[in-house]
Amino acid sequence: MFIAHTIAELRAHLAAFEHPAFVPTMGNLHEGHLALVRQAKPLGDVTVASIFVNRLQFLPHEDFDSYPRTWDSDCAQLQAAGCDVLFAPNERELYPEPQTFKVLPTPALADLLEGQFRPGFFGGVATVVLKMFGCVFSEAKGRRTAVFGQKDYQQLMVIRRMVQQFALPIDVVAGPTRRADDGLALSSRNGYLSPAERAEAVQLSKALQAMAASLRAGATDIPALEAHAMEALRTRGWAPDYLVARRRSDLLPPEAVDEPLVLLGAARLGSTRLIDNLEV
Ligand code: PAF
Repeated sequence: MFIAHTIAELRAHLAAFEHPAFVPTMGNLHEGHLALVRQAKPLGDVTVASIFVNRLQFLPHEDFDSYPRTWDSDCAQLQAAGCDVLFAPNERELYPEPQTFKVLPTPALADLLEGQFRPGFFGGVATVVLKMFGCVFSEAKGRRTAVFGQKDYQQLMVIRRMVQQFALPIDVVAGPTRRADDGLALSSRNGYLSPAERAEAVQLSKALQAMAASLRAGATDIPALEAHAMEALRTRGWAPDYLVARRRSDLLPPEAVDEPLVLLGAARLGSTRLIDNLEV
C-alpha cells in the first residue's frame, strides 16, 4: 500500500491510474470501513482510502481532540483489506491557511436532524469531502467513484446532493451498515462505551426496529410513534436527540405512511452519542 502524506505525492502516484475508487475516513477503522474498501475495489483500477480527522466538522465541545487516532492498526487493516493507496495528510497540508471558502449546504436537508443538533457539521463534512475529491480525482480520466457508509444516512444524502448540484463527475455509492452480532451499528465512537453501556447500546437499533414493527402492523400516528420510542429510551437512561420517521427522498416528515420511509435515531448513552437508521 502506497502512503501519501501530501497532495503532490498523492497526485503523482495516481497519475498512473484512470478510475480511482475512494473511501474517505477519519481513521480508527473497523469492519464497517473495511467493508467499504472491499466494496470499492472492483469499482476502480486503484482503491484509495483517506484518514483525516477533520476539525471543521466538530463543534467546540465535541471530541476532536480525543477522537481515537490508531495509525498502526489502521494501516495494517487497510493493507489487509486490499487498499492500494492511503492518503493521510496532516492539517497543515489540507488546510495550509484558514479555509475561508467553505461549502454551505443550505436548508432544509442540512439543517434538520444531525444538522439541528450539530450545527455546522454538514458544512464541515461537505467542505473536506469536496477538497478530498479535488485531491483524489484530479488525475482521473474516466469513471470516478466514492463510497460512503449508509450508517451516516443524512451525510450520504448531503454528499449526493453536493455532487449533483456542483455537477461533479463522481458516482457516489452507498455501503450497507455493518453491525456487531447483537445488532449494534459499527462506529468508531462505540469504543467510548463502558462494558455496561456497550451491552445497552443495541437498544437504539431495537427502538428503530420496534418503530418499524409498529408501522408494519398498521400504526399511522407517526408523532405518537416517535414520542413513544423517545420515552422508551429515556426510561432506560438514554438522552435521545431524535427518533423519527422521515421521507427517504428529503428527510422531511411524511404526509402518508405509505411513502418510502427511513427511521433515524440519535441518542446519548452516558457521554457517547450514537446514531442509527433503518429503511422501512
Ligand atoms: O464519515 C466520516 O468519517 C466523515 O464525516 C468523512 C466523510 C470522512 C469526512 O470527514
